[in-house]
Amino acid sequence: MKAGRFAATSAPGRAGVASGLAAVAGLMFGLDIGVISGALAPIAREFHANRLLQEWIVAAMMLGAALGVPIAARLSFGWGRKHTLFIGAVLFVAGSLFCAMAGSVGMLIAGRVMMGLAVGISTFTAPLYIAEIADPPHRGAMVSIYQLMITLGIMAAFVSNALFSYFDTWRWMLGIVAFPGIVFMIGVAFLPSSPRWLMMRGKREAARRTLQDLRGQGHSVARELREIDARLHVRTSGWALLRADRNFRRSVLLGVTLQLVQQFTGMNVVMYYAPRILGLAGFIDHARLWGTVSVGAVNVAATFLAIGLVDRWGRRPLLICGLVVMSIGMVLLGLSPSAEVREATAQALTIGGMVCFVSGFAFSAGPIVWVLCAEIQPLQGREFGVGCSTAANWIANMIVGVSFLTLVDRLGLSGTFWLYAGLNALFVVLVALFVPETKDLTLERIERDLTAGVRLRDIGRGPR
Ligand code: BGC
Repeated sequence: MKAGRFAATSAPGRAGVASGLAAVAGLMFGLDIGVISGALAPIAREFHANRLLQEWIVAAMMLGAALGVPIAARLSFGWGRKHTLFIGAVLFVAGSLFCAMAGSVGMLIAGRVMMGLAVGISTFTAPLYIAEIADPPHRGAMVSIYQLMITLGIMAAFVSNALFSYFDTWRWMLGIVAFPGIVFMIGVAFLPSSPRWLMMRGKREAARRTLQDLRGQGHSVARELREIDARLHVRTSGWALLRADRNFRRSVLLGVTLQLVQQFTGMNVVMYYAPRILGLAGFIDHARLWGTVSVGAVNVAATFLAIGLVDRWGRRPLLICGLVVMSIGMVLLGLSPSAEVREATAQALTIGGMVCFVSGFAFSAGPIVWVLCAEIQPLQGREFGVGCSTAANWIANMIVGVSFLTLVDRLGLSGTFWLYAGLNALFVVLVALFVPETKDLTLERIERDLTAGVRLRDIGRGPR
């Protein structure tokens, strides 16, 4: 499919439509995160799966995702971002159908690994692709739409869990993911290739045409092409670049740190254990389920704030503000289980703490970490750099998920929440010291400052 098919839309509308389509990957990611919590109990009943097997069914997706990231890094370099997204879409459809038809736990685990591969491939490729086709004034909002889709996917899964729980039909819960998967597959077939990738492969004329189509005929793309060109002189990439270039090491370390920060805020403690936390505060059955759905709704709603503000206020202020709000949320959650408070107070603190924490995450670390990770890597090492940060996201996600119950055992529920409150406070300092403001900068300008050795937080501050 040629980018020319987008000619009916106006720039930056064309880049917006293309980003929106790519962001459907986020929807699938969110569905996959949210769906298993509801499906696990009926699966365990049908297959008589013990606790260990259940853990494998859950963890298989994360394992697949961790494997999918390096695969995506190779594919998106050789075959391009668009074709890699297509492979991700095919795996989404195949994996969910495989899971829905599984006749044994082994088949189910294989299907979950396949879905994990799809998630790993698309969490790597979609933000990268969107950042590469977006124009600088809208880039933050466009990548944040990807996060919005993640939150919509999680929310849809929470609702479907609540509804299907009345019928015990786990096959539908897992199989339904194939429908958005098919839409995604068709959408991806109509996407233009990334102009930056085309330039990297020496397809200059195709790159010029695609960029012209994305920006609109009235826009001169000569400067943008020249800037991409100027960044193509380095011939090494990946490990070799990491060994040879101190500045590349800085950007890789920054990306990995940002993803660790995102995960160690504790967001997935709330996403995976919300019903349990609500239960501990005295909410029962239906109240717990619908309480979890409301947490999902807050997550969606607050993401709109990020989309509206990320290109106006910038990345740093939003991130710092969100981390402060998350700290406060965790303190409130930590206060709720103490013996002195009455049940009504405990419930108010739990709900207040969750709303505060989840909204803080949704307007800051959720979207902005994906935005920054896609922006800060130099073109020649972009696949490798984004691959490292995305893999860090999945590994940390797994650690946070499996350590929660052990932490509660050792530190108590309050102690665990306060630990996360402390971490969030620490992250405020980390962001203030090391994170650059990339609002309104071209990717090439970010790269120029990085490779000139400018201090990370001063990137983009000198004359344009
Ligand atoms: C994170 C996920 C998290 C989701 C919640 C994403 O940005 O990477 O781990 O579950 O946000 O909305």
